[in-house]
Amino acid sequence: MELPWLLCAFLLAACCCCRRAAGVPGEAEQPAPELVEVEVGSTALLQCGPPRSQGNLSHVDWFSVHKEKPTLIFRVRQGQGHSEPGEYQHRLSLQGRGATLALTQVTPHDERIFLCQSKRPRSQEHRIQLRVYKAPEEPTIQGSVSGIPVNSEEPEEVATCVGRNGYPIPQVIWYKNGRPLKEEKNRVHIQSSQIVESSGLYTLQSVLKAQLVKEDKDAQFYCELNYRLPSGNHMKESREITVPIFYPAEKVWLEVEPVGMLKEGDRVEIRCLADGNPPPHFSITKKNPSTREMEEEISNDDGILVLDPAQKEHSGLYECQGLDLDTLLSLQSEPQELLVNYVSDVQVSPAAPESQEGSSLTLTCEAESNQALKFQWLREKTGQVLGNGPVFQLHNLKREAGGGYRCVASVPSIPGLNRTQLVNVAIFGPPWMALKERKVWVKENTLVNLSCEASGYPRPTISWNVNGTASEQDQDPQSVLSTLSVLVTPELLKTGAECKASNSRGKNTTTIFLELVSFTTLTPDSSKTTGLGTSTVSPHARANSTSTEKKLPEVESKGVVIVAVIVCILVLAVLGAVLYFFYKKGKLRCGRSGKQEITLPPSRKSEFVVEVKSDKLPEEMGLLQGGNGDKRAPGDQGEKYIDLRH
Ligand SMILES: *[C@@H]1O[C@H](CO)[C@@H](O)[C@H](O)[C@H]1NC(C)=O
Ligand SMILES: *[C@@H]1O[C@H](CO)[C@@H](O)[C@H](O)[C@H]1NC(C)=O
Ligand SMILES: *[C@@H]1O[C@H](CO)[C@@H](O)[C@H](O)[C@H]1NC(C)=O
Ligand SMILES: *[C@@H]1O[C@H](CO)[C@@H](O)[C@H](O)[C@H]1NC(C)=O
Ligand SMILES: *[C@@H]1O[C@H](CO)[C@@H](O)[C@H](O)[C@H]1NC(C)=O
Ligand SMILES: *[C@@H]1O[C@H](CO)[C@@H](O)[C@H](O)[C@H]1NC(C)=O
Repeated sequence: MELPWLLCAFLLAACCCCRRAAGVPGEAEQPAPELVEVEVGSTALLQCGPPRSQGNLSHVDWFSVHKEKPTLIFRVRQGQGHSEPGEYQHRLSLQGRGATLALTQVTPHDERIFLCQSKRPRSQEHRIQLRVYKAPEEPTIQGSVSGIPVNSEEPEEVATCVGRNGYPIPQVIWYKNGRPLKEEKNRVHIQSSQIVESSGLYTLQSVLKAQLVKEDKDAQFYCELNYRLPSGNHMKESREITVPIFYPAEKVWLEVEPVGMLKEGDRVEIRCLADGNPPPHFSITKKNPSTREMEEEISNDDGILVLDPAQKEHSGLYECQGLDLDTLLSLQSEPQELLVNYVSDVQVSPAAPESQEGSSLTLTCEAESNQALKFQWLREKTGQVLGNGPVFQLHNLKREAGGGYRCVASVPSIPGLNRTQLVNVAIFGPPWMALKERKVWVKENTLVNLSCEASGYPRPTISWNVNGTASEQDQDPQSVLSTLSVLVTPELLKTGAECKASNSRGKNTTTIFLELVSFTTLTPDSSKTTGLGTSTVSPHARANSTSTEKKLPEVESKGVVIVAVIVCILVLAVLGAVLYFFYKKGKLRCGRSGKQEITLPPSRKSEFVVEVKSDKLPEEMGLLQGGNGDKRAPGDQGEKYIDLRH
């Protein structure tokens, strides 16, 4: 098969010899060709001879030499250029004084020797080596998708780097963590190959194979392409990648979250961890305190056991097993002790204490814990701490001592770990009315809710002297609240309503007086039997007001009332000071009859008239104090008047 090629080569050589003999260009004894470097796509300028050469260039033949064979591509005759038919027919032109041949749209195929020959004054030729360059595109890198086991015997494919459309073939350098990788027998192997695109450009593909170790799990790999352009050497880098690396676990251990002291009710996570990739199959076991055997706990696939809420039974010895599904090797963690601190239910004895007025009572609190306990006694209603220690004594019991007491058993060393128990101390006694008597502002022919609260032990029952729908509500073991929904009739207005509370120890009553609200713009909150919210306006004052007076806007929020009261008090204080000043100077006589009207100068746009009955506190003071009915003296409940007029 090689014979025809040999023959052909021989003929070709012979042919060349003939041509050289006939004065046609050849190779021997020629100086090195002139080098012309140009980028793909640009224009190459070929000069026939060194600059300022003496040759007569009005008669030149240009050849391209491909595989040693010159082909005439261009002729210059009397300074005029003529393209020869063929691949260069349309890309050649003369430049300058005819000494320069311009080749446009250079492609990689043009990388060859060009030769010019001028005949006169003597046969003379000049050879040009055209070198073509093209920067490759930015290299792309693709890491191994399947991952690399560390114990493989041969280098495994780590990543592939591709650099497209460069010329000539760029050089590839692989880097790991910024350091270039060198070919190493059985450890690092770099396989590069290239394909020639139809454009003549090269696409380079380089495969990095390496034996990796566990420490390479975070290693950054990238490739770099080095290439040359007429301007010099350049390079392009790919992005950095990491590759998944598989390595067997050497160690399995347990972690508990949160760290530190645990208490019942916490959300606790017991986590199995291993230093292998992929992680082994985990299972968590706990020592059974009675059988002393390890029993498997149910954990999720990630080897996490969640105790939510943690309980004292969760305390104990835990272990984790990791089974490598490839090697079927099982690893075991160190056992880990888990302690869930707890406080048991709190018990107070007696559970339902009851006693006579004037006697004493001892309450004992019991609870159990794995830690030292601290006991505290709190008054339920106020949250006030009354005593420390498991035993609490009440002496000389008064009616007011009845009600809720709470024992708190806490572990001081573990914040938030506590349990409590509430007991109700009952003190025998006749009913005690929250209010002795009260006044309610009502409108005729409307339904109004009257309420009545009584305490005592045994718990009183409540009855009303008027017909209506009553409902009872037990406030605590010693008190009851009754609400009566009743229609306001003239008769009811006359008689009022009486609420009677009675128990085995006696009876007591509250009288409720009903008073008509005579104007319509106000909507008194008649469900509040204390009359709060209605007393901001006195009906008497209203009755005497003139018809030209503007109507008082509806009092909508207590906030407004409070602000108004504060303003009033301030104004009062200032006026009081002024009055006192005048009084001292004897310019003003101040009666002690209890009633004063102070009117601001008429120039003021808004005018406040404040009327205070001297023997009573303003109701709103009670509001500001936030007191509820049973904490106030019975005398507090009378009417108080503050009139705000615009
Ligand atoms: C070059 O040769 C041509 C004839 O072939 C002649 O006419 C011309 O004058 C010559 N030019 C130079 C500069 O020698
Ligand atoms: C009791 O525990 C709760 C949370 O469970 C905490 O808010 C409270 O402050 C604790 N009380 C005491 C007295 O430690
Ligand atoms: C009825 O209750 C009032 C408190 O509203 C109290 O002052 C009074 O002593 C009680 N009467 C009897 C007989 O207990
Ligand atoms: C309540 O109504 C009944 C009839 O339903 C009547 O006999 C009784 O007299 C009424 N009592 C009062 C106080 O109105
Ligand atoms: C009386 O109370 C009942 C329920 O307690 C309630 O539905 C009703 O609206 C109240 N009536 C008035 C006039 O406040
Ligand atoms: C209201 O005016 C009448 C006379 O018109 C008077 O008898 C009564 O005492 C006045 N009431 C008040 C609270 O000033």
